[in-house]
Amino acid sequence: MSTIVILGAQWGDEGKGKLVDVLAEKSDWVARFQGGNNAGHTVVIGDRTIKLHLLPSGITRKSCQLILGDGMVIDPWVLEEELNRWKNETGEEPDKDRLFISDRAHIILKFHRLVDGIDKKIGTTGRGIGPTYSDKINRFGLRFADLKYIINDNEWISEMCLSYNRTLRSLNINENITEEDLTADLKWIHNRFNHTIANTGLMLDNAIKMNQKVLLEGAQGCLLDIDQGTYPYVTSSVTSRANATHGVGIHPGHIDDVIGIVKAYTTRVGHGPFPCELKDDVGDYLTEKGHEFGTTTGRRRRCGWLDLVVLKHSHRINGFTSLAITKLDVLGGLESLKICVGYRANGIEYHNLPASNFELENAEPIYIEMDGFPELTDKQWLQLAEKANKEKLGLSALPINAQKYLNQIEMLLQIPIHSVGVGPDRDATIHVN
Ligand code: IMP
Ligand code: MG
Repeated sequence: MSTIVILGAQWGDEGKGKLVDVLAEKSDWVARFQGGNNAGHTVVIGDRTIKLHLLPSGITRKSCQLILGDGMVIDPWVLEEELNRWKNETGEEPDKDRLFISDRAHIILKFHRLVDGIDKKIGTTGRGIGPTYSDKINRFGLRFADLKYIINDNEWISEMCLSYNRTLRSLNINENITEEDLTADLKWIHNRFNHTIANTGLMLDNAIKMNQKVLLEGAQGCLLDIDQGTYPYVTSSVTSRANATHGVGIHPGHIDDVIGIVKAYTTRVGHGPFPCELKDDVGDYLTEKGHEFGTTTGRRRRCGWLDLVVLKHSHRINGFTSLAITKLDVLGGLESLKICVGYRANGIEYHNLPASNFELENAEPIYIEMDGFPELTDKQWLQLAEKANKEKLGLSALPINAQKYLNQIEMLLQIPIHSVGVGPDRDATIHVN
């Protein structure tokens, strides 16, 4: 097994970072293929936690080479800040020897952040992601590969400023981008990162030919995919399997395994339809107990029951070879648990995700109900996981009703469970087999 893809199967924040961190131990490379610093994951090193947005989760393993891939949009100032923080915490400077930026990746500039900052409709993270992808699709974007040429191209800089300022005025954004500022920014980016810019697709292709192990780390989730998500309440990139290889510049035939990360319930941050959303005590319980606040924006995440219509859709798009269930412990202590197996909207029953928000917004979930399982402390869950792994008990180590809940998911989706997360600790994960 050489190339594994890890993807969020819901609306993001499924806890991909933790699994990437675990799997990175056995990987030679961890590469991101889309998105930018709209993503966010928390890395725990001993008693310290670091929040990261751009640096791949594999950063915690020194033997792992890191790639920010072709399909990404990268804010160089955020990268600089993360690298500085990493250096302060660990003394290590990954960009000196093991972090590479794709020459095809696009650059997020101040202009893009300003434009994103006025979004009211989607509830974006405001990090400039959408406007940078818009420029890319309009064939107006700036890639790392071209940086060294355009920093001395006054005509290009002048044209870009004209266009940026025209857009800012049309949006009533009271800012102006001068040629001096833009030139200075571009020069800074070039000086700071030129040594890390590489043909990363070629590097990965060579690595795979040498039988090295590659992990492709998704950001956001399937339902935030620009094509397959709940459009328009989505992010601006293809978050799915099909883009994992394309977005790092290798072909799809290289993929051996696709692990779908599934939170044991559902969350969503930002606007848009969410049929299983709980606007009640149970929803609050999940938010509080699951610490469901965004890593990137700190926003409270909306919470709800597990939605199998969403997961079926996600599986059709991604062809998961296994599922990693996360945060099962959060459900502990609830008297009963619900799993959504369909929707009713406008007198019609849906078992597959409808494309239109007009249908999704009216969708009433059809639930199956199951008995809950007891609440345990973090320490008890950790001990349970450690025992399960040591004695190879797998899921049978879990309370019986938790096993039934997981069996139901496995049976209805027909995807084997790879692992189950029962707490924030690196070792609080039960591995099946
Ligand atoms: P954007 O990606 O900043 O353009 O935001 C578009 C939508 O995707 C908004 O609803 C965001 O809240 C959501 N989103 C973007 N990145 C993430 C993520 O990493 N986790 C969860 N939601 C995200
Ligand atoms: Mg996140």
